[in-house]
Amino acid sequence: MSKIVAANFKTNHTRASTAEYVRALDEGMGRLGYEAPVYLFPPATALDSFETAGDIRVGAQNAYPTVKGSFTGEIGLEQLEEFGIDTVLVGHSERRHILGESQSFVAEKFAWFKERGFTIFYCIGEPLEVREAGEEAVRRYLVEQLEGIDTEYEKLVMAYEPVWAIGTGKTATPDLIEATHAVIKRLCDRPLLYGGSVKPANIAEILAVPGCDGALIGTASWEVSSMLSMLETVNREK
Ligand code: PGA
Repeated sequence: MSKIVAANFKTNHTRASTAEYVRALDEGMGRLGYEAPVYLFPPATALDSFETAGDIRVGAQNAYPTVKGSFTGEIGLEQLEEFGIDTVLVGHSERRHILGESQSFVAEKFAWFKERGFTIFYCIGEPLEVREAGEEAVRRYLVEQLEGIDTEYEKLVMAYEPVWAIGTGKTATPDLIEATHAVIKRLCDRPLLYGGSVKPANIAEILAVPGCDGALIGTASWEVSSMLSMLETVNREK
């Protein structure tokens, strides 16, 4: 199976710069002969249906479990369907910890978008104090983050993102990723990405970890040259 690579823009890029990024990414993928899908999660204001030669799939970083309605500041299915978007990120640690999304709300969102056939990138991962409490504490934490989630959903892509490694420059070691991925694979047998400070300098060793099916990349994906350098590595190592 080819590796799954996804770029999470978070609150970066505008509508104009996203369009330029997609153009440059598509051109670069053509140059590299990169044929596997690349998922892109731009901010809501930059969602669009892009015409590309390469397999670039645009998803939403977040959406509310509704077709439309009175949910100030949120977008629903109607806004996604306008652009043919059928991929959504659910359970990202920034939404859990900064925006206060509870496990029950995350699970409700998952079920709602599953019902509508969405591809769901579902993120789990422990904060530093749980990691420091040891492996059993991590396992229990991850089990809780899977509560209410249909782990057999065929359009589910899992992402293990230890909170202490996100945006910190601190990457989990290959051994730690391998051990934690083995724990998660026992709980959920779906493709499993790693996320947390993945960058051009470490993507090869991360993707070489047994049980790692791809990468969810934040910071290092925001510059298209950096993203393309990672795709070049993925192409070479496949
Ligand atoms: P990062 O973010 O690559 O900046 O650590 C990853 C993520 O949050 O998905």
